Amino acid sequence: MSSAKPLVVIFGATGNQGGSILHVLAEHPDSYTVRAVTRSTKSNSARELAARYPLVQWVEADIDIPSSLPPAVANADVVFGVTQFFQPSVHSADKTNENAEFQQGKNIIDACVAEGVGFVVFSTTSSAKKLSNGKITGVLHFEGKYKIQEYLLALPIDSAIVQMGMYYQNYLQSAAWSESGDAVVIAFPGDVNRKHPYADVNRDLGPYVKFIIDNRQQSKGKIFPVSSGYYSTTDIANALTKVTGLPAVAVELPTDAYGDKVLQDMFELLKTCNIFADSPGHLDTNKKVPFEFTTPETFWETSKFKGPSN
Ligand SMILES: NC(=O)c1ccc[n+]([C@@H]2O[C@H](COP(=O)([O-])OP(=O)(O)OC[C@H]3O[C@@H](n4cnc5c(N)ncnc54)[C@H](OP(=O)(O)O)[C@@H]3O)[C@@H](O)[C@H]2O)c1
Repeated sequence: MSSAKPLVVIFGATGNQGGSILHVLAEHPDSYTVRAVTRSTKSNSARELAARYPLVQWVEADIDIPSSLPPAVANADVVFGVTQFFQPSVHSADKTNENAEFQQGKNIIDACVAEGVGFVVFSTTSSAKKLSNGKITGVLHFEGKYKIQEYLLALPIDSAIVQMGMYYQNYLQSAAWSESGDAVVIAFPGDVNRKHPYADVNRDLGPYVKFIIDNRQQSKGKIFPVSSGYYSTTDIANALTKVTGLPAVAVELPTDAYGDKVLQDMFELLKTCNIFADSPGHLDTNKKVPFEFTTPETFWETSKFKGPSN
């Protein structure tokens, strides 16, 4: 289906990734019709967003329930898909359903094919197994997403892939913060001096996906790595000092710090591999996107973080 004003369906619209896209597209009601997917339109986040963006359509669907999906994507020109590994139905301390995340992605994609959706943008990752030449096999939240990517790109449907860099937000949500004298200490698993691609999931993904949607012909079949560049935990600590004046030091935690084997294997992978190594051109495409990606400095500026005790 194609029209002057594309209908864009956003999965995960109440979360980080989908929410980032929702905010950007909903600010352009003359250019896009937006339909947001949630499991419950009665949740606080769905209600708040519905009140803020009255022109956005809301639809209830569950990516674990295939029959709920065709009505959600019906008549869409573009669908943004994202899956969820870290939820009880997929992964818990004592049990992981290894195929469940792939199945979520397949459910969305199959509904798009059945409904004749024009273009699918899916959020995936590279395979840890592939990146590590078969050495690291337990990063299940990478393998499921990679399988979705392979499945989608092999289908005769126009599509593009976005691969998110690590969220800067991980430093607010998952790092262990403490104070030592005048300095704040950011403790994070893995080598604090090794650089990785980072992105602000709330600020960077939306403009990037808008760029892909606006350039569908040139974007189809491509993999877009979303990040402003490669930074270490030490770089991120130094940026905090630059922005806030707070002396900050980065300290390495062991890879098993979170007591989760899947995350431990991911932090082992990050010790030796670049998660964008498989993405053609790495971050070169970002130079063409008319948007300034978030740097560690702009992340700290916009997050208004003032230190662990404030
Ligand atoms: N942390 C990182 O550095 C990083 C980097 C790259 C990728 N990722 C990946 O990003 C993904 C998480 O995305 P996010 O940060 O946007 O998640 P999030 O903020 O936790 O949002 C989750 C969203 O998914 C929706 N959702 C959850 N289960 C659903 C279901 N069964 N059916 C339909 N919708 C469902 C929720 O909507 P409702 O509650 O409204 O239904 C919510 O909007 C994960 O797969 C993670 O592995 C993380």
